[in-house]
Amino acid sequence: MLPLSLSAPDPSWERDVDVVVLGSGAAGLSAALAARPVRSVLVITKDELAAGSTTWAQGGLAGVLHPEDSLEHHVSDTVTAGAGLCDEAVVRELVTEAPKSIRYLMRLGAAFDPDETGDEIALTREGGHSHHRIVHSGGDRSGLEVQRTLDQSAVAAGVEVMSRTFALDLLVGRAADGERQVAGVRVGSLDTQGQVVSVGHVTARAVVIACGGYGQVFASTSNPPAVTGDGVALALRAGLPVTDVEFVQFHPTVMWTGADARGQQALVSEAVRGEGAILYDAEGERVMKGVHPLEDLAPRDVVAAAITRRMARLREQGAEVSDHVYLDATHLGDRFHERFPGITEACRAIGIDPAVDRIPVAPASHYACGGIRAGLDGRTGLRGLFAAGEVSRTGVHGANRLASNSLTESVVTGTRLGRDLAWELPDRVEPMFDAAPVVTGLLDPARLPEVRSAMSRHVAVLRDASSLALAGDEVAAIARSLDRGVDPSVQSWESTNLLTVATAVIAAASARTESRGCHRRTDFADPRDVWRTSIDVRLDAAGRVHLSGVPPGA
Ligand code: SIN
Repeated sequence: MLPLSLSAPDPSWERDVDVVVLGSGAAGLSAALAARPVRSVLVITKDELAAGSTTWAQGGLAGVLHPEDSLEHHVSDTVTAGAGLCDEAVVRELVTEAPKSIRYLMRLGAAFDPDETGDEIALTREGGHSHHRIVHSGGDRSGLEVQRTLDQSAVAAGVEVMSRTFALDLLVGRAADGERQVAGVRVGSLDTQGQVVSVGHVTARAVVIACGGYGQVFASTSNPPAVTGDGVALALRAGLPVTDVEFVQFHPTVMWTGADARGQQALVSEAVRGEGAILYDAEGERVMKGVHPLEDLAPRDVVAAAITRRMARLREQGAEVSDHVYLDATHLGDRFHERFPGITEACRAIGIDPAVDRIPVAPASHYACGGIRAGLDGRTGLRGLFAAGEVSRTGVHGANRLASNSLTESVVTGTRLGRDLAWELPDRVEPMFDAAPVVTGLLDPARLPEVRSAMSRHVAVLRDASSLALAGDEVAAIARSLDRGVDPSVQSWESTNLLTVATAVIAAASARTESRGCHRRTDFADPRDVWRTSIDVRLDAAGRVHLSGVPPGA
């Protein structure tokens, strides 16, 4: 059983605003900026503004900007990558707004890289894209530029920021018509060590969850330390369903720095393969030859699975190197340094020069395709609650997100919902406080490595019934150790959130008896028509996990 509220000291202060935004990446700041002209907007971030995934995005933003490209091509590439679970109407809306969102960022001051003529924006290609349509900045520092632009614009527009403040749980009330409606959020202020300074209630007429994904639930990830599933866990505790959470995208080319490497690892952007780099195994054989018509530019679920299978085969054969493969971009020569300065820096840190050396890489967790069910306008099943960006599941990504569609989705959704909130807000409701929840207690952060290890050993790129059962048993045993004696702190709150998310992912992955997109089961190697549907996971009033949407006969 999982906790339905995060233990914390009693609240000692209150704030009231029109709109509270939880999270400060592209989605949250786009929403805050768009709502701000006519609303009081408070952005709450557990660290500082730029601590989330947006800053680390290398590739860029996908959008149709080249005359030879078309919206239909972008729709079709997205839907193909999504492996039968995209909502095509939503994809079409996103793709139509994508070029506008890129031009909007440019009007806010984002500097995207120009092409060789200097007159147009440079467009690159990534896995699964049939055309060059990714705008980038600083070579491979695209996310940094988006974050910088939105940070500056939001602060200049008067958005208030509360840093080092952790969103614990939603406050919920009832509207005049009796419907449940969000009333605000309970938050904990932190010192620089992550210890609790105080707890408060922020009441608001709208709450926007934009706290990103849950890459840190795995032992090795491209995601920064802050990406701990806080939004998904918060929604589950509030009784909301989360959808498609089994579809965790593993990036095929995360820099491999040793078998013991843990936590955030440097990404080697798919744009490197977009510029012609090729994957080889340690024996010098090409990994992607004959696997997919697009070879090294196949969608990333295909590439990650092919690398994982190749490494398993080499392991069986007793090969000396079987825990990583190599990305060869040496054809770019010194041009690599200029085009990919961030990756160059990461390579130099491990003593290699990508202009002349192959880069050691292996798949690692990268993006959560599922999350809180929401529309492209951010609306969720709870009145007044909105979700945007990686924390949400809008139907754009389906079973596998197309590269560089995520920043685009974050800006489009965030801006749309912020504009809607500028126009109209729900009436204020008073929060209702229930009796103490049935399950309390926090996870001792010392046990978090066990959760991550279980996820990486048993729920990674390739899964099967027995690996998922092992993960389920290990994580359930850890959940039984939730303890009221554990001190509230950012570490114990994050650990408890990650445990909650791990439980949800394992439950959905165990139920989905097929392979589709980035959910690959070795015991069910193919997609099954009956499974062309999504699973919702929710917590009941006792903190037990329930699934809905599992098709009869599956
Ligand atoms: C990359 O640059 O390979 C990552 C881009 C993305 O995840 O969309």
